[in-house]
Amino acid sequence: MTQAPHGPLDQFTFRHIGPDPAEIDSMLQSIGSDSLEKLINETIPASILERQPLNVGEPRGEHELLSHLRTMAKRNRVFKSYIGMGYHGTITPPVIQRNILENPGWYTQYTPYQAEISQGRLEALINFQTMVSDLTALPIANASLLDEATAVAEAMAMCISITRRDTFLIAHDCHPQTIEVVQTRAKSMGVKIEVFDPSDSDTWKSRGFDDVAGVAVQYPATDGRIDCYEALADALHNAKALLVAATDLLALTLIKPPGEFGADIAVGSAQRFGVPMGYGGPHAAFLATHEKHVRKMPGRLIGVSHDTHGNPAYRMAIQTREQHIKRDRATSNICTAQVLLAIMAGMYAVYHGPDGLRRIAERVRGLTQTLRAGLRKLGYKIDEDAFVFDTLRIRPASANADDLLNAARDREMNLRDFGDGTLGITLDETTTIEQVEELLHLFGADRSDESSAALTLWNEVERRIPESFARQSGYLTHPVFNTHHSETEMLRYIRTLESRDLSLCHSMIPLGSCTMKLNGTSEMLPVTWPEFANMHPFAPVDQADGYFELFEQLEDWLADMTGFAAVSLQPNAGSQGEYAGLLTIRAYHESRGETDRDVCLIPLSAHGTNPASAVIAGFRVVPIKCDDHGNIDMDDLAAKAEQHQEKLGAIMITYPSTHGVFETNIRDICKVVHDHGGLVYLDGANMNAMVGLCKPGAFGADVCHLNLHKTFCIPHGGGGPGMGPIGVVERLKPFLPGHSVVKPKTAGEQAIGALAAAPYGSPSILPISWVYIALMGSEGL
Ligand SMILES: Cc1ncc(COP(=O)(O)O)c(C=O)c1O
Repeated sequence: MTQAPHGPLDQFTFRHIGPDPAEIDSMLQSIGSDSLEKLINETIPASILERQPLNVGEPRGEHELLSHLRTMAKRNRVFKSYIGMGYHGTITPPVIQRNILENPGWYTQYTPYQAEISQGRLEALINFQTMVSDLTALPIANASLLDEATAVAEAMAMCISITRRDTFLIAHDCHPQTIEVVQTRAKSMGVKIEVFDPSDSDTWKSRGFDDVAGVAVQYPATDGRIDCYEALADALHNAKALLVAATDLLALTLIKPPGEFGADIAVGSAQRFGVPMGYGGPHAAFLATHEKHVRKMPGRLIGVSHDTHGNPAYRMAIQTREQHIKRDRATSNICTAQVLLAIMAGMYAVYHGPDGLRRIAERVRGLTQTLRAGLRKLGYKIDEDAFVFDTLRIRPASANADDLLNAARDREMNLRDFGDGTLGITLDETTTIEQVEELLHLFGADRSDESSAALTLWNEVERRIPESFARQSGYLTHPVFNTHHSETEMLRYIRTLESRDLSLCHSMIPLGSCTMKLNGTSEMLPVTWPEFANMHPFAPVDQADGYFELFEQLEDWLADMTGFAAVSLQPNAGSQGEYAGLLTIRAYHESRGETDRDVCLIPLSAHGTNPASAVIAGFRVVPIKCDDHGNIDMDDLAAKAEQHQEKLGAIMITYPSTHGVFETNIRDICKVVHDHGGLVYLDGANMNAMVGLCKPGAFGADVCHLNLHKTFCIPHGGGGPGMGPIGVVERLKPFLPGHSVVKPKTAGEQAIGALAAAPYGSPSILPISWVYIALMGSEGL
């Protein structure tokens, strides 16, 4: 790379890739090629190689780029959030922030496929599983899932598979994004969904559950109410149906856990255990259940066994459930999940221990009771008989809800607007008594009236949990949750586990088909900037200008690199990108009245997530033979395309293939499928090999996902986080994912529903890819 003598000297391109020219020459010699240019010409088929320059600009200096990004970040206005809806302010213990979230020894670990180099992280994940299992009072928990809404969708799929019934009920007081994600998933899986009122027992009793696979409730509900679901659980069990409880780990330190009122599956988000909101993610979700359902569980499960010397050793367990073995019979398509965030949440429990967690929960509940007492005194209507933990739903007395919402925004607070004249307020670990005071003033309390002061009320209110709701059982009794409470102990524990693991700090990790890339420090720094980290995903969009500038630029860059017309940033991993892309294909066929185009051709060499995603997107998988190099058997493809031409919906093809090969006849493959009425889904997880050299959108793909946690430098985090945005051609744009709470700017007019809890997936890790692209510039990429 050449650079102007007066330009910044801290350019990154030559630091990003390790080898110097001599080393590159030596590598070229060993594989018998004269130059990189020649190697590229020999590798990428001439029919698709194009050398049009990318449109991402000149490479930038690290220092200058970060100060530019800081200015952009400051365009986000981070208000105090009382919105709730499953996302909460939380205090990341600094010892965890610095030594896990910001520590490459943890965030650059690869997925734990090789147990012997992953012992530290596997122990941390066992802690997460134990924490979830204890708090939910269900014996088996996984580590981990992508977000609460998809966790409920996964639980629904479990219920369907266990009971072999096809109707699922979801309570109307679940978070709206959860209901929407479940509806999206149900539609593609052919499951019938009914939204019902769990408090209306007469109606559900007369309906009966004999045809029902399961029922999902939110505990506490989205409006804060905590109800008893024992009777519902009994009725479901009598009908051999299952109860799923979407729940809140912090509340469970005080209230009866799902396993004790009859829930068969508990799911939720562990976000408020020290993981910043990040405008929607990434955070770890969890799923816990009874042992008898373990083979139907999605996501990774860590177990303990013994090595050849009899020493205890951690490993991934019961992998026969996973897609790389079961393929289209897998229980789920989840692959990369949220390991780093699960580790943080587990460490939060290790650091605070059972007593610390209970104290945090009691304080949140005490402040909520204080606020409730103050608001009642002011004449506001709040459900008199409702038992709540951290959330109140208020019907304003005299003022109208819009005025109060606006007055709150003037004071840099966001309340929840239920849209029916009622308002929601959710408190969290970061809320102070002064902020409760401020809320009371917003609702009209007189500053000079001592008797309505928050502190006075705090001393008066009832903070005990009513016996019928109170948790009686203990939790987190394992020594790990009762030992590391000083910062020194915690630091040593984190460092000890880190030393039992392998990361990019030690070596390259040549595993799997994944492109491992440097996760540059400048790329990582913005993740924990408060302007990116502390935003609630449903904050009014005019407070997120910084994020929107970043999203739009990233979407444009990714569209340019892939040759597509538009990009959606919603999918939270490659698996979710596959699912989203396939749904856009189905929606396209349906829009043309071709509803029975449900065959998806998938080469036998494809990554395991492909067939699993195809099935949950409602396709029938027809395998295509491959040769020993992973190349598609063109005769078999032609025959199958012909055989299924009336029903051909799509092909899923990984390019370059999982064997690392650029098949020369890719254009022909796309043509065969198009000629028979199907569309082409290109698995672009390893887009790294194509950036700047060829564009899927230009050689025949209709939709493609990118694993930003491979090609675009988001670290693997030991098995997540990740991001799997999709790019689509013009004709698929109208179907790009929507979201009913905050409509993404890229949502199509005939959008498929939301497929992630947050409209833009996991925004706080998008600056990583943005910085990488901007640092490298067109030529560097
Ligand atoms: C080729 C390929 N496709 C799809 C995936 C699935 O992506 P994710 O793990 O992010 O769900 C992966 C990686 O894991 C992959 O290597």
